[in-house]
Amino acid sequence: MLTNEQMTVITSTVPVLEEHGVKVTTRFYRQLFNDHPELLNLFNHVNQETGDQPKALAYSLYQAASNIENLESILPVVKQIAHKHRSIGVKEEHYPIVGEYLLQAMQDELGLNSDDPVIEAWGAAYGIIADVFIQVEKEMYEQAGWDGFREMKVSSKVRESDEIYSFYFSPADGGPLPLFQPGQYISIEASIPGEKYRHIRQYSLSDAPGKNHYRISVKRENNPEGIVSNYLHDQVNAEDSIYISAPAGDFTVKEAHSPLILISGGVGVTPLLSMYKRVRESQPERPVTFVQAVRNENVHGLAEEIHVLKEDSHIRHIVCYEEPENIDAGDFKGRLTPEALASFLPQEQAEYYLCGPELFMQSVYDMLKDLGISSNQISYEFFGPTMTLVEN
Ligand code: HEM
Repeated sequence: MLTNEQMTVITSTVPVLEEHGVKVTTRFYRQLFNDHPELLNLFNHVNQETGDQPKALAYSLYQAASNIENLESILPVVKQIAHKHRSIGVKEEHYPIVGEYLLQAMQDELGLNSDDPVIEAWGAAYGIIADVFIQVEKEMYEQAGWDGFREMKVSSKVRESDEIYSFYFSPADGGPLPLFQPGQYISIEASIPGEKYRHIRQYSLSDAPGKNHYRISVKRENNPEGIVSNYLHDQVNAEDSIYISAPAGDFTVKEAHSPLILISGGVGVTPLLSMYKRVRESQPERPVTFVQAVRNENVHGLAEEIHVLKEDSHIRHIVCYEEPENIDAGDFKGRLTPEALASFLPQEQAEYYLCGPELFMQSVYDMLKDLGISSNQISYEFFGPTMTLVEN
């Protein structure tokens, strides 16, 4: 428990965290990896270089500090992060190490002594926040389909577009595959020849659940170069082994009766396709509008699968090509405009699911809000460290 004085100190340092949070967390990671290089096996190095992970950590601490008197209210955010932690293999014993380096970074960045009331209050607050994460993650570990990273055999590798390959895999031991919820992702743990550390990355499952395989559809990332996506594209083939953790994530489709609107940008189609396929099986009458924004025909992954879907009368499938090669291709050309989006959407109350690059999602989210769609009708998932679209 925090004392009343500590609570007051935490509340009064929220503006400080808002101002210095990213500096503190950047310093924290630098020192942590310097002294504990083994933790580089867990973290995405690109998210460190871009500063996205320090930003995400600072933001979540800021949120926790602002709600320290009512941590229940940020439980959904905690769960989202905890899913990622569980999928990667963050353990209870890691929390004290992170706490120690975080407080040290705060002291150094703010020029405070270890017995300063601010540092003492933050030490107590970190303990409380960490306990919430540890409890939530404990339950997730208990409920996970399996423990740690499990060996899978790639049964096939299919080229979907100039940039996307699908990988189908099933357990190397021939055991069963647990069901997952459409929209969930798995983590791949890649030991890449010539690389000092293992690399872990998340990929959404792109097929419906209930098959004897899992499927991911991976875009080759070039800017910055995606070490794992390039490895998968260039070096992993049918019959090879890959290691994955059990499905995770809470970006999952609810079984409502209202129309379902799926809006994807680029390879963000993957979780939405899984949702779509599941809904077609479980709620065949449910109206679906699938708006797919893609750069051009050459990078339009999973096009054939989408084409089959288009033959169904309950489905509106709208393809938007930002820069089409063929001027007649697709249903809409150029970047989505509010007018175009409005013309694709139903009049009734609907549930919206968005996935794609951050700028795309921000623009679609803002357009939906301007069209009067309330934020509790919109779910979204980032490819990258969890942030929010709401306050921007
Ligand atoms: C990811 C917060 C403790 C390891 C994240 C993310 C946040 C976060 C906001 C981004 C989530 C996402 O990508 O969707 C926190 C908070 C913690 C905490 C508030 C303490 C209360 C830990 C600990 C470890 C850890 C103890 C273990 C060393 C990771 C890793 C990732 C991550 C490996 C993925 C990073 C990446 O992909 O680059 N955490 N975390 N976290 N966290 Fe934590």
